Amino acid sequence: MTNSKRKILVTSALPYANGPIHLGHLVEYIQTDIWVRFQKQRGHDCTYVCADDAHGTPIMLKADQMGVTPEQLIARVSEEHQRDFAGFMVGFDNYYSTHSPENREFASLIYRRLNDGGHIARRTITQAFDPEKQMFLPDRFVKGECPKCGAADQYGDSCEACGATYSPTELKNAYSAVSGAKPVEKESEHFFFKLGDFEQFLRSWVDQHVQQQMIHKLNEWFEAGLQQWDISRDAPYWGFEIPDAPGKYFYVWLDAPIGYMASFKNWCDKNDVDFDEYWNAASDTELYHFIGKDIAYFHTLFWPAMLEGAGFRKPNGVFCHGFLTVNGQKMSKSRGTFIMAETYLKYLRPEYLRYYFAAKLGSGIDDIDLSLDDFRMRVNADLVNKVVNIASRCAGFIAKKFDGQLAERLVQPELYDEAVRAGASIADAYEKREYARAMREIMQVADRANQYIDAAEPWVLAKQEGREQDVQDCCTLGINLFRVILSYLAPVLPQVAEEAAQFLNLASLNIDGFAWDAVETPLLGHRINKFKPLMQRVEPDAIDKMIEDSRQSLAAAAANPAQKAVPDMEPIADTIEFPDFAKVDLRIAKIARAEHVEGADKLLRLTLDLGGETRNVFAGIKSAYQPEQLEGKLTVMVANLAPRKMKFGVSEGMVLAAGPGGKDLWILEPHEGAQPGMRIK
Ligand code: MSP
Ligand code: ZN
Repeated sequence: MTNSKRKILVTSALPYANGPIHLGHLVEYIQTDIWVRFQKQRGHDCTYVCADDAHGTPIMLKADQMGVTPEQLIARVSEEHQRDFAGFMVGFDNYYSTHSPENREFASLIYRRLNDGGHIARRTITQAFDPEKQMFLPDRFVKGECPKCGAADQYGDSCEACGATYSPTELKNAYSAVSGAKPVEKESEHFFFKLGDFEQFLRSWVDQHVQQQMIHKLNEWFEAGLQQWDISRDAPYWGFEIPDAPGKYFYVWLDAPIGYMASFKNWCDKNDVDFDEYWNAASDTELYHFIGKDIAYFHTLFWPAMLEGAGFRKPNGVFCHGFLTVNGQKMSKSRGTFIMAETYLKYLRPEYLRYYFAAKLGSGIDDIDLSLDDFRMRVNADLVNKVVNIASRCAGFIAKKFDGQLAERLVQPELYDEAVRAGASIADAYEKREYARAMREIMQVADRANQYIDAAEPWVLAKQEGREQDVQDCCTLGINLFRVILSYLAPVLPQVAEEAAQFLNLASLNIDGFAWDAVETPLLGHRINKFKPLMQRVEPDAIDKMIEDSRQSLAAAAANPAQKAVPDMEPIADTIEFPDFAKVDLRIAKIARAEHVEGADKLLRLTLDLGGETRNVFAGIKSAYQPEQLEGKLTVMVANLAPRKMKFGVSEGMVLAAGPGGKDLWILEPHEGAQPGMRIK
């Protein structure tokens, strides 16, 4: 390795200790883990820490409802989280908890330093209070009727029916989601972190340490003005009591990021590493946080400001990623696409998902979609048919004909060199978190290897007299290329890489099996082991079963009132919000022409007149209508649906129809006073 050894500390966000790990979370933990494994493979000193985020009102209430102590709840969840992460090969060096002595100490220390620096203000505020439970209610725990539209059962911060935002005191007929009692208003003194004190610092820090796409968002926040941040909560609260302030607790988000330090400290103490070298203000070690874009405010403003104010080092980078959708939509419990890590692992190998996420992840904050058909086809095409296939086509001959012995030479050294040289760009892609590019470039190497084997045809040579040497040469090159590819894929496929290392008998060489640069020396005159199939195809059946299982287990959970009474930290709505509905442009359209489509059993091609403008739309209504029945009729269409390329052409909208299907399908036919082009709603 030419560059010197870096000391790198990496974190993923700390998952809340009141719910299971799902595939959405895993985008982040897999993204981080790949980066960490890559750094380790490059020979750097890279440490990956995480913890459960164990404090806050939801955890307190959930424990209460389950009839256990918060300590019992978080211990159980921690075990489940660690089991799930291990199942997906997320290799933390330390997994801890924010409810730990180290974290209490650091939270107090940072608070004291901020307070001494004059960065803490105290102010009395009025809040909703549950007189029965004798506790202040966070906005999400006050429910009632929307002050704007009157919809029932709305949360205290916003209305899901009309999109209005308001404060909980404005709700009509408000009630506590905890006890059902009518909340009263009550005053209490709160502590605030004066974020505005750090505006200058933050503006320049952000510019250098946050992704370009995030900077736009941050500029909006700067323009809106940096508000003081309420960091205290009144008892009863599950968290750390604020020093010298009996009955006042740190708000969960104050001690949560400090949990990164606490987990690292815990690891340092066990491994005899100098914590201060990593965290002193002038540290030349590197620190990176991987997070979802939903928690950027905490990590790009509050957190660096806290560290600055308390005299610690700041992160070198905060890497935000987007959100996971499944089949193009938000994960949904009723569709069975809210998939828990545990459920996935019952049916599918973790590395399929690791590869698929890698193949989709870039360095930006765009959402990523797990399309289940695409997932299956991609994994089968790339990993099974392309990569594993290289080894399975060559290994048998080497084992049978040459007693596992590879040839002494590479027949086409330039092909091997090309594969090795590709490593520089692949490494650059990993380093910059452009995993999709890394996977693409690796698959190009695999394509070249397959092309070579296709052309060399060892299976033909093997049947010919006197071509032994050619067979051994060809398979030796194939297996060497396979080794290079597996080395590049090792951060993504740790288990497959390990099995491949076993097959390649790398342990017998005196080198670190998949050290990044090890491939510079090919395996020649080397004995390999028996080949076992490294990966099976993904079967559609396994995916169907996983979806069905998800649907059922979540239906069961929803029926369990103990889980329902406390709102989820992250409510997943199957309904759309009013603003989503407002986006739909419904218009009256006249069917100017209707025609059969050559080769389509269900579709008719409609030419729709929107009062001047015409649209070409394919509609699946052939079972119910003859084209001539439709011409001249009015219907309702979605006019602003993005054009979609279909097999038979581009469809520029959608007509609305109703009915059970087949012959009984009716297009909507407005009549009275309807004119083509008229807007509905
Ligand atoms: N406890 C806070 C983080 C504290 S960090 C000091 C939290 N926990 S979380 O469990 O809700 O989320 C953990 C991480 O998973 C966050 O970075 C979040 O963005 C990410 N994800 C949760 N659901 C996600 C998707 N559906 N898609 C992608 N990432 C998601 O936030
Ligand atoms: Zn409303």
